[in-house]
Amino acid sequence: MTVKAGVVGWPIEHSLSPVLHGYWLSQPEHSSIKGSYERIAIPPGELTRENVFKLRDQGFVGFNVTIPHKETAFSLADELDDAAPFTGAANVLFFMEDGRIGARNTDVSGIQDSLMQSLGNISLAGKNVVVLGAGGAARAIAYALQGLHVAKVSVLNRHKDRAEKLVEHVKKYRPNAELVTGSFKDWPTAAKDAWLVINATSAGMRGHPPLEIDLARLSSNAAICDIVYNPLETPLLKAARARGHKRIVDGLGMLMYQAKPSFEIFFGKNPEVTPGLRAALVRALAARA
Ligand code: ATR
Repeated sequence: MTVKAGVVGWPIEHSLSPVLHGYWLSQPEHSSIKGSYERIAIPPGELTRENVFKLRDQGFVGFNVTIPHKETAFSLADELDDAAPFTGAANVLFFMEDGRIGARNTDVSGIQDSLMQSLGNISLAGKNVVVLGAGGAARAIAYALQGLHVAKVSVLNRHKDRAEKLVEHVKKYRPNAELVTGSFKDWPTAAKDAWLVINATSAGMRGHPPLEIDLARLSSNAAICDIVYNPLETPLLKAARARGHKRIVDGLGMLMYQAKPSFEIFFGKNPEVTPGLRAALVRALAARA
């Protein structure tokens, strides 16, 4: 019998999840899995418990959840991991043997694994990090960084009040975390001792204006990460490369590593993040450009 999984969202045509899971399903080491992975279009407001169980009745073992349903997915779950309550969002729903709905937030482990893979396992311990942005992605990242034992996180956002709310939320879960907030006006101060800067805003995404920060404030040894992957080389990463920054982490890392645990939940095998997978994603992005 085919194991059916998919991704739920609206709009869903541009999701790269079918490329990720399709690539893994096509690999020889997974030839024993008879699996499929589909795009499932569900309009805003229609990810209800009833519709989730309809998917189970259609044979789905579970599915990834993307915009705009991640918060709803969290609220529908009967069983959660630690990251989901913190973020108030889930990107995986699956059906448990007892019929309940399980939920996971693998965005948190996705950014952790991507940073560890690119920058080294223990390299972030004791370091100062600047997170730009204060939306859902920034929240998952601020939480993920605590798990990597960083010294200080500066959360800077266009609207400072949102950064303050985010930090208040993290403090509820991690009272001892050292977190500071600011607007982009505070960038020169935050940049001075930053070991890593992460763009968690949507600025720099295709069709959006670029982020307006001056990298000259930053040590050229600092690492730069952008969670935006379309385009793969955002204006921020391009400017970092031009300045000679050596450690640059693009948005495909987080995308690939958040998908890894979902594949295991759906298909029972832990897949590898490989250059071949990355190349498949780069091809899919190029075909769209
Ligand atoms: P997500 O949940 O995907 O993180 P979001 O909640 O809409 O999305 O948050 C988008 C983030 O990008 C916010 O931090 C937003 O800043 P504001 O809270 O001040 O709106 C940030 N953002 C979007 N466009 C931006 C731009 N051109 N420059 C700087 N920040 C931007």
